[in-house]
Amino acid sequence: MPSSVTTVIDVLRDKIQSRTARVGIVGLGYVGLPLAVEFAKAGFSVTGIDVEQRKTSLLNRGESYIQDVPSAVLRPLVESKHFQATTDFSVISELDTVNICVPTPLRKTKDPDMSYIVSACQQIAKYLKPGSLVILESTTYPGTTDELVLPILEKTGMKVGEQFFLCFSPERVDPGNPTHQTANIPKVVGGITPACTELGALFYSLALEKVVPVTSTSVAEMVKLLENTFRMINIGLANEIALMCDRIGINVWEVIDAAATKPFGFMPFYPGPGLGGHCIPIDPFYLSWKTKQAGIEARFIELAGYINGQMPHFVVDKIQNALNDQAKPLRGSHVHILGVAYKRNIDDVRESPALDVAHLLKKRGAHITYSDPFVPSLKVDDQELAPEDPLEASHDADCVVIITDHSDFDYETIARKAKLIVDTRNALKGKTGPHIVRL
Ligand SMILES: NC(=O)c1ccc[n+]([C@@H]2O[C@H](COP(=O)([O-])OP(=O)(O)OC[C@H]3O[C@@H](n4cnc5c(N)ncnc54)[C@H](O)[C@@H]3O)[C@@H](O)[C@H]2O)c1
Repeated sequence: MPSSVTTVIDVLRDKIQSRTARVGIVGLGYVGLPLAVEFAKAGFSVTGIDVEQRKTSLLNRGESYIQDVPSAVLRPLVESKHFQATTDFSVISELDTVNICVPTPLRKTKDPDMSYIVSACQQIAKYLKPGSLVILESTTYPGTTDELVLPILEKTGMKVGEQFFLCFSPERVDPGNPTHQTANIPKVVGGITPACTELGALFYSLALEKVVPVTSTSVAEMVKLLENTFRMINIGLANEIALMCDRIGINVWEVIDAAATKPFGFMPFYPGPGLGGHCIPIDPFYLSWKTKQAGIEARFIELAGYINGQMPHFVVDKIQNALNDQAKPLRGSHVHILGVAYKRNIDDVRESPALDVAHLLKKRGAHITYSDPFVPSLKVDDQELAPEDPLEASHDADCVVIITDHSDFDYETIARKAKLIVDTRNALKGKTGPHIVRL
């Protein structure tokens, strides 16, 4: 390795080790903001960059909009100048590291939408200075860092592994999880060259508890897709078992709980009203899109996607049948949706199955209301709904459907007040009665 290259690596290594490296995080959402806060807490000077002025203004006032980052944690970091936010990408010319945490949604056709990554990388390339470390964290298909990001950054004329360093590190944050958070979730990182991996691993080791280096960016990209595909397929299996149990009259929840007592070789997954969030319903299709190009059909993914996609329909059929058993038609009935976030105790409604269930109920002529302590308004088709009081609405509705089992709900009272409840999460575990219908 020429000595000029070792000098570039040594300089960056020293800056990282001494925490004088200036850190940049592009995309300040559920992933980027907690990461920025961890590096600021570790003593680095962190600059967050986002395209939304509203977000950067809030953050510069010490106000967080991400549930897992309390303003009380953010504010001292802003006051001590360890964290600041901007919409101006030119600040990158002063930074030593840049993590990219922008969205990676699917297009309507279920193809990856890479436009956010491309746009962020084009901005970064404009201002990237020699001796910088760039790390992509957005979930994506294997090959992205090498085939898409690297060519954009090499347009600067700089050579990777020599004048700048490039890694992929999957983000594994689990919003709302009080035990496993950004700081204590092991961080996998793979670089384009060994020097990139070394610097990436060193960088994370100064703010996070455990780092797991792998040999390439593609391995690191594939790790994330394996994890989320594993989850999506196992939820699909749990949903299919639920459909089977329903048909033959067995309580699927009791079956899973009993199976989970096996001390080896079984891991419980639970059925539900459908998949939600920005990860599990989406990420596996990044993998199937990529493998299709290599001539491999991802059949498990397609099948689990189909079964999971049927669940909102199954739930609405269940509501309709339960109402019919009480001699009421679904059309014109009041159905109250309890919980609309995509999972328990969080405020995120992206891809939430509640949206599908609400849409299907409306389509079949039901009058719908909702309650959710974390979601102040809900758009269903073109209708904007405000939340109702859960106890009053449960009393008034012809049917209550539990979509998200937030801990705040008073299930005891709801079970007593409601005329009919369809419980898709086993939130009413242990409670029975002719008015309680389980998935
Ligand atoms: N939310 C999760 O639980 C989670 C977990 C693991 C991985 N991920 C992955 O992390 C990535 C980010 O997800 P998220 O949930 O944080 O998304 P998010 O929508 O909460 O945040 C993304 C942020 O990026 C900003 N942004 C968009 N385009 C930009 C650009 N060109 N430049 C700068 N900022 C830009 C948006 O304004 C937003 O603030 C995705 O790839 C996602 O799949 C998410």
